[in-house]
Amino acid sequence: MSVPIIESRRLSLYYGDHEQTAARLRRAGEVVDLLSVDTPYSERTHGGHNGTLPGGRSPIPYAFWTPEDVHVFVQTWRPLQRGWLVSITDHVLWEAWQRAAERAGLYAGFPPVPMVVTGSRLRIRGDGPSPWTYFVMVARPPELVTWGTLRGAYVGKRERLLMTGGKPLWAMREIVEDYSRPGQVVCDPLCGAGTALAAALLEGRDALGGDGTMSVLAKAETRCMRALRIAERGHEIPGRRRRP
Ligand SMILES: C[S@@+](CC[C@H](N)C(=O)[O-])C[C@H]1O[C@@H](n2cnc3c(N)ncnc32)[C@H](O)[C@@H]1O
Repeated sequence: MSVPIIESRRLSLYYGDHEQTAARLRRAGEVVDLLSVDTPYSERTHGGHNGTLPGGRSPIPYAFWTPEDVHVFVQTWRPLQRGWLVSITDHVLWEAWQRAAERAGLYAGFPPVPMVVTGSRLRIRGDGPSPWTYFVMVARPPELVTWGTLRGAYVGKRERLLMTGGKPLWAMREIVEDYSRPGQVVCDPLCGAGTALAAALLEGRDALGGDGTMSVLAKAETRCMRALRIAERGHEIPGRRRRP
């Protein structure tokens, strides 16, 4: 069972496995617009974590995702999603995401969109380049053919994060701005510390998310409530980056 943490007009958060969140939406007859996810990466990236996740221990036994996990995720969520699918992933799983999106009837014929966060991650072994780039797989329903021309990369500096593995707010705001419209629902059912959801609220979208780790979901809750207050006051956010 997914457990509601907040259910309000602009923001809903659920504690539980993403499949339970999906089941809840199906029962309620709800759909989302942009599905923006940052799921665990491949074994090659996460190898050795074995049962732990960025941000703390998790009750769910996973440390990395396989192509089969990606397939199950896309099949589970496709009926609940009427807009873009945006998946931030690594170079190993990117192709699995593209294949799964195509199998689910989405158009995914775009190259990987790099998200380059300079200074973000170090190659601890000190024997080669640091992994500063995430690979974003984007796919749209076939009918969204006139959506518009979007950024070909997200490039910026590392910022202080609420959890290991979190993404910078500037990048998520740009993604939300590109792949959804004001007033639409942005969903991240593995939201971690809630960066995509906070970005959605700040950009005038509604946010729906969940996570299987309570400690990080609590961070998402605090952060989203703050984003909602800022959005409702209508203040511009310091440090907001403009479209390049
Ligand atoms: C890379 S983190 C997301 C970070 C997030 N994008 C941010 O900026 O804060 C991945 C998250 O997926 C969650 N997770 C992994 N597998 C899950 C599952 N099956 N159901 C729900 N949450 C899951 C983990 O608890 C973790 O918080």
